Amino acid sequence: MTHNQAHNRQSWALVTGASGGIGLAYSEELAKKHQAIILVARNESKLEEVSGQLRNQYGVPTKVIAADLSTPEGINKVIQQTQGLNISTLINNAGKEESGNFLDLAPEDMLSSIALNCSASLLLTHHFANEMANRGAGNILFVSSIVAFQGVPLIANYAATKSYVLTFAEGLALEMAPKGVNISIAAPGFTNTNLAAEMDFSSTPIKPLEAEYVARYTLDKLGKKRIIIPGFINKLLFVLGKRLQSRAFNSRAFGQVFKTVLKKKLTLEKSTEVPS
Ligand SMILES: NC(=O)c1ccc[n+]([C@@H]2O[C@H](COP(=O)([O-])OP(=O)(O)OC[C@H]3O[C@@H](n4cnc5c(N)ncnc54)[C@H](OP(=O)(O)O)[C@@H]3O)[C@@H](O)[C@H]2O)c1
Repeated sequence: MTHNQAHNRQSWALVTGASGGIGLAYSEELAKKHQAIILVARNESKLEEVSGQLRNQYGVPTKVIAADLSTPEGINKVIQQTQGLNISTLINNAGKEESGNFLDLAPEDMLSSIALNCSASLLLTHHFANEMANRGAGNILFVSSIVAFQGVPLIANYAATKSYVLTFAEGLALEMAPKGVNISIAAPGFTNTNLAAEMDFSSTPIKPLEAEYVARYTLDKLGKKRIIIPGFINKLLFVLGKRLQSRAFNSRAFGQVFKTVLKKKLTLEKSTEVPS
């Protein structure tokens, strides 16, 4: 067997947004399970640092691809640099959020969130699911959010991108299951990462979960459960929201939560009032 053939047999997990937050935690959890990992994000030096740490601590092969996944060039770079590799797990985790009054947000920022949160997941999945279907095996995780189940004021575009991810992955899961490709959706609530850094939880009973817990819980259920909601309170919110409350009520309730946690960031004007 040539060195190349041996290399190609190695199965890899590809994690997007692996330079920090929940993606870094997914990478570490996978490394603990002796999984070789391809780490993708924009910040190359941070990725190299994570890569070295995982190799030293867990002895797993790692590979770094620095790419901006909100651009076609970034997607092509990932596809090119993984050619011939057996990607058995794809974690579509990279995401960004812009919060605040819609009229104050830059349209190009919101469009780049659609490109990263939605289009990148679609494009990477289209490429890697094809290879997985040919092999008759594979796991794909989509990272959505509990905000995906209703529209949410002050993060309207972000919540809509997460609804796209949820609905897309739900449909695709049924289509891909007979081909041996398992698809799960993670719907975390507030998690202690950079993305939630500008939120202030001091005046709410809600406390963010730790990324390590979210990653461990989710990976344990990957391929076994369709929609994975880490944390008791988040599960409760989901069940109440679905069984007892109207969608309109859920939108207003989430709006009040975001109005509270973003209070310090927003210069509150009348237009920030969430209609009741
Ligand atoms: N934190 C929460 O409360 C929460 C709740 C529910 C769902 N989520 C979801 O969880 C996922 C991870 O978020 P997080 O909380 O871990 O956020 P985070 O700490 O901000 O991490 C985001 C990751 O995505 C990467 N990234 C950002 N823009 C990118 C781009 N254009 N191309 C490639 N990579 C990019 C970042 O690395 P670089 O900057 O190096 O590119 C980083 O590794 C997201 O999909 C988010 O929507 C988060």
